[in-house]
This record gives sequence, C-alpha cells and structure tokens, in this order.
Amino acid sequence: MRISFIGGGAMGEAIIRGILAKGVATPQDMVVSDISQTRRELLTNEYGIETLDDNRQAAKGADLIVLAVKPQNLARVVQDLKAPSPEQLVVSILAGGTLAKLCQDFNHLSVVRAAPNMPAQIGQGITVWTATADTNERQKELARTVLGAVGKEIYVTEEKYLDMATALGGSGAAYVFLFIEAFIDAGVHVGLPRDLSQQVVTQTILGSTSSVEMMGKHPAVLKNMVTSPGGTTTEALFQLEKGAFRALLYEAVAAAHSKAQRL
Ligand SMILES: NC(=O)c1ccc[n+]([C@@H]2O[C@H](COP(=O)([O-])OP(=O)(O)OC[C@H]3O[C@@H](n4cnc5c(N)ncnc54)[C@H](OP(=O)(O)O)[C@@H]3O)[C@@H](O)[C@H]2O)c1
Repeated sequence: MRISFIGGGAMGEAIIRGILAKGVATPQDMVVSDISQTRRELLTNEYGIETLDDNRQAAKGADLIVLAVKPQNLARVVQDLKAPSPEQLVVSILAGGTLAKLCQDFNHLSVVRAAPNMPAQIGQGITVWTATADTNERQKELARTVLGAVGKEIYVTEEKYLDMATALGGSGAAYVFLFIEAFIDAGVHVGLPRDLSQQVVTQTILGSTSSVEMMGKHPAVLKNMVTSPGGTTTEALFQLEKGAFRALLYEAVAAAHSKAQRL
C-alpha cells in the first residue's frame, strides 16, 4: 500500500503518527508533499518519511491520496492533481466541499470525504466519513483503516451527516475546551487553587464521559442520580437552565452546521 499526503500540517502529521503507531503502514509506504520546508524537515526527521514539495510527484503511484491542506489552498492542489489514475482513491479531510464538487474539481470518481476532529492528534479522534458510489469495497476498507488509525471512525451513506458531524465533533472539540476552561475558572472563583481546580474538572469530565459509555444509561438518568432533592447540584443546574445552557448549545451547533454547509 502506498499513501500520499498532500499537506503535512497538524492533521496530516496526526494521521501519519496514527498509521505508524498502529502498524498500518511503514514510513517507506508513505510520502508527504508540503509547501513548507519546516514541515517537510520535521516530518522527515521525526518519522523518517520521504517529503517533497511537488504534489503531482507525491501522488504518483499512490493507492490513496490524502488531501490535508486548508480549504483555501485546495484550488492550487486541484491544479496540481487534476485527473488522478482511475484506481487511486482521493480522501479529503477538508471541512466542507461536497463529494460532487471534489469529483468535478479533480475529474475523478473514487473519492472519500471525511470529517475528523482535533483529538485525532492523540489517537482519540472521531471521524465520520462517506464515499462516492464508484469507490469500491477494497478502497473503502483502505480508507477505514487509515481513518481508524487516529481514533473511532463511522462510515455513513448520507453525505449530509458530514456537515452535522463537523458542527458536533469537528468544531465541538473547541466548545468542550471552552467549557473546560470556564469550569476551571469557576473553581478558582469559589477559591480552589488553579491546579487543583484543573485536576478536579478534567477528571470529572473524563469520568462522566466514561460513565455514559460504560454504564449504558441515558445521560439524563445519570444526571438525576447525582441530583439530590434540595441539594447543591440542583442549585447549579437551576442556574444553567436559567441561563438557557441547552438552548445556547443548540444554537451554537446549528450556527456551525450552517457555516459548514456554506463552505
Ligand atoms: N486541525 C484540525 O483539528 C482539523 C480537524 C478536522 C479537519 N481539519 C481539516 O484538515 C485540513 C488540514 O488542517 P491542518 O490543521 O492540518 O492544517 P495545517 O496545519 O495548516 O496543514 C496544512 C499544511 O499544508 C501546507 N500547504 C498549503 N498549501 C499547500 C499546497 N498547495 N500543497 C501542499 N501543501 C500545502 C501548509 O503549509 P503552510 O502552512 O506554509 O501554508 C501546511 O503545512 C483542513 O482542511 C481542515 O479543515 C482539521
């Protein structure tokens, strides 16, 4: 298997790291093309991977071409890679950009569109992905293996779910980081030392997430288990409801979804 990365920035590197950590491929099976000399040097030194500043050359002979540049740099990549060989699979991890548009731009039929998220950088990502009807089973399996190297992956047949997944998981990591930051600050506000507040908050979030996954109960049931009548928790929940915490979250996700659709 030969994998070519067009763009070796944060996400390209995350996937390369995941692939190597899981033994999906060796450094000799991969090549990265990036316009940044700094990134090329880093990737070669860190992972022993061949790097180029020539997208066309990098894509030559690849089974799978991973597009990992920012959306504003895609037009240039399209010029370089127009009409790859029919048996090559193009995998785009760019936010936005429909399968139809990618197929048209690249004049190519076998295309996967994936929406990963930032925790992919530590192998804990979630990637929702889909493929054109012309992508064969062997190619889908290849895409599944590569995307699965950085966390969970979920294949969907409905492309519309990708913009929704971007609003929830892609952008969502930022909402969670904001929540964590504010939660820690709130601990400091009531008098906890910052490092203690951070430990309590991060473990509470980690433990709560694991509880949802491992106890198999609805989050509302778990919330109710923590909420004693007339106790401390209900006081806090009342303030969150009064501040329209849920409605705000609905609106935030809807705004990100709408933006993803416009990209
Ligand atoms: N980061 C995330 O958490 C995340 C999550 C989900 C999806 N994504 C998607 O993943 C894609 C990559 O994101 P990223 O965070 O990895 O971006 P990034 O760190 O900026 O990496 C992109 C790399 O591609 C290089 N590049 C720019 N134009 C190029 C060209 N024409 N040919 C070859 N290389 C070129 C950039 O060099 P310069 O810096 O010199 O321009 C940079 O090194 C984006 O489209 C984004 O929507 C990212």
